[in-house]
Amino acid sequence: MLSNKRPDSMQRITTPELANAFIDEQVREIREQVGDKKVLLALSGGVDSSVVAALLIKAIGKQLVCVHVNHGLMRKGESGQVIDVFGKSLDANLIYIDATDRFLDLLAGVAEPEKKRKIIGAEFIKVFAEEARKLQGIAFLAQGTIYPDILESKGVKAHHNVGGLPEDMEFELVEPVRLLYKDEVRVVGEALGLPHGMVYRQPFPGPGLGVRCLGAITRDRLHALREADAILREEFDKNGLAGKVWQYFIAVPDMKSVGVKNDQRYEGWPAIIRAVNTTDAMTATIEEIPYALLHHITDRITHEVDGINRVLLDLTPKPIGTIEWE
Ligand code: XMP
Repeated sequence: MLSNKRPDSMQRITTPELANAFIDEQVREIREQVGDKKVLLALSGGVDSSVVAALLIKAIGKQLVCVHVNHGLMRKGESGQVIDVFGKSLDANLIYIDATDRFLDLLAGVAEPEKKRKIIGAEFIKVFAEEARKLQGIAFLAQGTIYPDILESKGVKAHHNVGGLPEDMEFELVEPVRLLYKDEVRVVGEALGLPHGMVYRQPFPGPGLGVRCLGAITRDRLHALREADAILREEFDKNGLAGKVWQYFIAVPDMKSVGVKNDQRYEGWPAIIRAVNTTDAMTATIEEIPYALLHHITDRITHEVDGINRVLLDLTPKPIGTIEWE
């Protein structure tokens, strides 16, 4: 049984040298644990599952089968990045499932946040389990569990980790970063050669844009949200805020207001900017964004994104507002 307790003597991994030593040790341990068997991994493209994938590819190559389920609620370009990095650059055994229609059809007309989350979580497991059943000879399930998940096992991640697979699907777990803190996972990810943007990706909730396309999701509003969010990220990147702000995104509510575009009445949705700083996501403060940049972002979103006619800024710290709107 592998230990789930971080030894007091374990040094914090802060340098490439320490990361490489950790990688060498894990490669040995993984090979020992797995032998010549196959390992399955749900690869979301988030930091933890990506680093686990890269470690396993280094240790056992094609014995790892990665499944990336695109639930249609990813940020712009994120599924593409998973395919490029893992399918192409690292030549991994990657199964890509575009399940967009399944998720969006199930979510049609569902406005209640908890119900939306449950549908997304349950369908994710269903799609993943269906794929797993098609594969032969899988003995292990790899997971991107990190040390804070073990310490707060009732934490936010419980929603979306693959812990809820059907009972007849029993796999032994491979959790190579389970004793690491997030900052250490990132150092290890960089040492493994993953792109900086992937390793320093912001936290992204399991239900993805589903909890930011507020109320009942429609494809047109989801599209507008994804485009507006991409502009916000691009501008934060260009203006040095990406490394400074812990989490930033757009939410689009299910309401319209009146505007004018090209001298015509133009009813559209508002795009709400949320940019917060926090250390543990339990409380959060509001990041000050320079007004000139806010004007520029507003200008771009209202001109470039179909369906959006206003941009608003959420100034609410947590508490009382949670970070996500739903
Ligand atoms: P709230 O909205 O509760 O969010 O202030 C705190 C942090 O958790 C993220 N979040 C999730 N992360 N699965 C996740 O892995 C989820 O279902 C989920 N819901 C919220 C949120 O983005 C924020 O960073």
